[in-house]
Amino acid sequence: MRDAIVFKNVRKQYGNYVVIDNLNLSIPEGNIVVFVGPSGCGKTTTMKMINRLIEYTSGMILVNGQDIREVDPVELRRGIGYVIQQIGLFPHMTIAENISLVPRLKGGKKAIDIHKVNQLLEMVGLDPEFYRDRYPAELSGGQQQRVGVARALMSDPPIILMDEPFSALDPITREQLQDELIRLNEELHKTIVFVTHDMDEALKIADQIIVMQNGKVVQQGKPDQVW
Ligand SMILES: Nc1ncnc2c1ncn2[C@@H]1O[C@H](COP(=O)(O)OP(=O)(O)O)[C@@H](O)[C@H]1O
Ligand SMILES: [Mg+2]
Repeated sequence: MRDAIVFKNVRKQYGNYVVIDNLNLSIPEGNIVVFVGPSGCGKTTTMKMINRLIEYTSGMILVNGQDIREVDPVELRRGIGYVIQQIGLFPHMTIAENISLVPRLKGGKKAIDIHKVNQLLEMVGLDPEFYRDRYPAELSGGQQQRVGVARALMSDPPIILMDEPFSALDPITREQLQDELIRLNEELHKTIVFVTHDMDEALKIADQIIVMQNGKVVQQGKPDQVW
């Protein structure tokens, strides 16, 4: 299996404060890789370095074999979907408009690709006819997160970053979305980098778990290999 993302001796510091210390990692293509660790251990920082929302201090990150410092950040992000906890749908836009916002901005196209929107809504378990023309306030938190996942899939990126995407949801909804993410990726084979502070969530969805503590990897392996 090819590596989608590789970290080589990556270090991030703010002044003298070291947040990520000598990170070396390989993330294989098509896997769900979960970073798990307590709040403040450096999970979000690690994730945001992959799409260059945060620049690292030293070392190298490769995405699809390319040094990301040699790739235009906008170009880089076109191949990397991003889902966060408070998904930030635009309240005055319909679900269809929210999902197709980024390609419309990029392409300057005004028309929404309804066929694609329908397909994505179905993929994340929302009836397109019912939800497409609604506004975010009419949806539950779990449904809004589904829309966030659909939006991240819009440009069909090979890599998706998910930063605690289900953490604000009630336990039952959370379990449902975890199940559906697993099912979805059996179909799509994306490289998914998923961050959580919840070990149960990590054990459930991960092909590979990376346990972090104080900016360091302390364990790495398949769910049945970490403890
Ligand atoms: N802009 C910043 N300046 C200084 N310290 C920061 C900055 N951003 C994050 N940190 C610190 O880096 C550490 C890791 O943060 P973060 O990656 O957000 O952790 P996590 O996502 O695991 O909760 C924390 O101690 C945080 O306070
Ligand atoms: Mg975080």
